[in-house]
Amino acid sequence: MEKMGLTLFGDIYRGKKVLVTGNTGFKGSWLTLWLQNLGATVTGFADTVPTTPSFYKANKLDESITQVWGDVRDVQAVNKVINDVKPDFLFHLAAQALVKESLKNPLDTFAINGMGTANVMHALRDVTFDCKAVFITSDKCYENVEWVWGYKESDRLGGKDPYSASKAVAEIVFHSFYHTYFLNHPHVKVASARAGNVIGGGDWAMDRIVPDCVKQWSNRQTVNIRRPKSTRPWQHVLEPLGGYLLIGAALAGKKKEIHGESFNFGPPANQNYCVEELIGDLAKYWTHGTAMKLINIEEDKSFYEAGLLKLNTDKALAVLDWQPVLNYHETMKFTGEWYDYYYGDKVDSAALKEFSLNQVMDYINAASKKNLQWIK
Ligand SMILES: NC(=O)c1ccc[n+]([C@@H]2O[C@H](COP(=O)([O-])OP(=O)(O)OC[C@H]3O[C@@H](n4cnc5c(N)ncnc54)[C@H](O)[C@@H]3O)[C@@H](O)[C@H]2O)c1
Repeated sequence: MEKMGLTLFGDIYRGKKVLVTGNTGFKGSWLTLWLQNLGATVTGFADTVPTTPSFYKANKLDESITQVWGDVRDVQAVNKVINDVKPDFLFHLAAQALVKESLKNPLDTFAINGMGTANVMHALRDVTFDCKAVFITSDKCYENVEWVWGYKESDRLGGKDPYSASKAVAEIVFHSFYHTYFLNHPHVKVASARAGNVIGGGDWAMDRIVPDCVKQWSNRQTVNIRRPKSTRPWQHVLEPLGGYLLIGAALAGKKKEIHGESFNFGPPANQNYCVEELIGDLAKYWTHGTAMKLINIEEDKSFYEAGLLKLNTDKALAVLDWQPVLNYHETMKFTGEWYDYYYGDKVDSAALKEFSLNQVMDYINAASKKNLQWIK
């Protein structure tokens, strides 16, 4: 971001070694791109590239990082990568992140999300180098009592479906390791981050609304919508990523008291649009045919899906000076334009990477207008 003349996150990531677990996934690959741009040397740890296509491959991120393949359920592999890399910062994003998959494979979901978190924390217990670690869970870690207020970090954890419960487990694991092993640890500082549904270019995961649309539209096929009136607090992927980077910087800098704390990152309370509206807005940016004609609304209420869950982000604002930057329409513009560009004619990975980085810069420009402390 040097050419913008801005200093981000106190320049803390420049020249630092950063380990990102789940770096081949949607959030992990955008985080990798941003970290590299901040001057960090990134090592990724993941079991596979979860989708084809992927943001990771499309931007050829594998050519500019050290990639370690391994499973977070394998405690030795986790130990090895952490002790080989000796990262200054660790962002733990590796997870089974799909609700529908958790219904099919609850045991894997609990093992990856729960024991995976335990394995990473266990490996950090004995390290003798300084490391700040950020653990990414989910807004779904809260017991969803279907109320209209935003959930605070102190609210009860829970989860009626395996995915939600596995994220509550991850949080419980996080807090128990913190209190038992990290409270007075000489080298390791930790925090956890809870964000909700994110959208943005480069997600091709199964059963997520934006990927479902672009996959179908790119094949000139109709997308079937199962819950058109479902309302989610949609947020651009760069919003929580900025929060994760801010936590890492705070743990390393003047706000060490956030050690052991959890933070919510969510959109403003009034930014709730239903699936039907979101698809209509996404379709406006699609220039490869008339997407509006390729939408079929077909309600399916056969499986349990938690109702609206809002996050209260007062703590992130008060302690970290974090707040959302993009409104809903800007979020849709970033997302729609990215996919439209990707599916354009003969887009090579260098041009795509530049396009992706430009979106990061546009995001930072928008943030700088809000005078947030992480941009100077
Ligand atoms: N995308 C969202 O809307 C959203 C919302 C809330 C929370 N989250 C959380 O953010 C994190 C990242 O989400 P995402 O959307 O990038 O998910 P993703 O599915 O796109 O990526 C998951 C990553 O974890 C890796 N992974 C999965 N199982 C693994 C295993 N056993 N061992 C090692 N690596 C493994 C995958 O290879 C991939 O790199 C997850 O913890 C997810 O639960 C995501």
